[in-house]
Amino acid sequence: MLSMIKLRSIGAPIPTLVTKDTDMVHPTPGDALQLDLRTGLPDALRVLLHDYPRAGWDAHPGYDGLIRFWLDRHMMFRRILERLHTQTEETLDRRMAFDQFRWETGRLGSTFVQELHGHHGIEDAHYFPVLSGKDKRIARAFELLDHDHHALDGHLNTFVERANAALQATSTKDTAIGDFHSTVADLTKMLDRHLIDEEEIVVPVILHYGTGGLG
Ligand SMILES: [Fe+2]
Ligand SMILES: [Fe+2]
Repeated sequence: MLSMIKLRSIGAPIPTLVTKDTDMVHPTPGDALQLDLRTGLPDALRVLLHDYPRAGWDAHPGYDGLIRFWLDRHMMFRRILERLHTQTEETLDRRMAFDQFRWETGRLGSTFVQELHGHHGIEDAHYFPVLSGKDKRIARAFELLDHDHHALDGHLNTFVERANAALQATSTKDTAIGDFHSTVADLTKMLDRHLIDEEEIVVPVILHYGTGGLG
């Protein structure tokens, strides 16, 4: 199902978010592994991370441009959400002008949704199918990440709805601003969980098996 949503302050269409029926195709992970409940990867999916701990990644000869570029994208998503959270707080505290809040939220919100949606699309269509075939021990980890993407689609839709409501507010007293602030905080928590786990699955695979097939 496709839906077109706009962040109104800039009048540009927000990229389509795809809501997929995941239940028929993708097995549901156990409750403890759901994105909103998970506190980390289970031990069975950390076998390569044990050999390639995060602290040693940047000293490894295989830590090349592709990994750096990909991790930089993750950092960009974290920074945009942090900025949105901070400026919404500043607006609620009347330290940021409402017009500036609307402009910045429209600009940053649109970039965030568009770039994250594209990022997930590349991972789903290209990275995950290639990487999941490299080590059968952690193939299930990529099902988990795929499930995260579907869960995040729903949270991104909520993010866009709440952003649009905040952009239509007529004053900083409107409850839509506070609702958007909470939504950004919730999304930050869930996206960070996904990014940390994804990095700790994908980087060790690439360091061990190389970038063959990723192009
Ligand atoms: Fe992802
Ligand atoms: Fe990613």
